[in-house]
Amino acid sequence: MSALDELYREVILEHYRHPRNQGRLPDPDVATRGHNPLCGDDIELSMKVNDDVVSDIRFLGKGCSISQASASILTEAVKGKTTAQARALIDTFKAMMRGEITPSDELGDIEALQGVRKYPVRIKCALLAWTTLQEGLDLYARSQRS
Ligand code: FES
Repeated sequence: MSALDELYREVILEHYRHPRNQGRLPDPDVATRGHNPLCGDDIELSMKVNDDVVSDIRFLGKGCSISQASASILTEAVKGKTTAQARALIDTFKAMMRGEITPSDELGDIEALQGVRKYPVRIKCALLAWTTLQEGLDLYARSQRS
């Protein structure tokens, strides 16, 4: 394993062992749940959105180290971002996982998840939290229109 792969692995394990923003918000503006039917793993996201900014976000989940670490990394990355910025980050993340972009330092711990690309069957694990976030943002947008 290269030094970079080892670093990516350490970042993922650190988030798995010490997840950030874990829990469920008591009065969220939007809550959504993602499920991987292949393995049964779950991610639940709850968010507060104020003036179009994701002011708070928590996750609860069960599953493999990659899915749970990815959720932890996501909450750190998205908190304080506008919904448009959060959507842009989802697009960037997906493009990174498809190998279409080289991540920049600005992505912080998100970059570590590109190490998962070496194991194609695990890419779904890394994506679970991000597709759940996308659904949550879509739900929120619909609730604002009605
Ligand atoms: Fe289920 Fe990773 S093995 S999400």
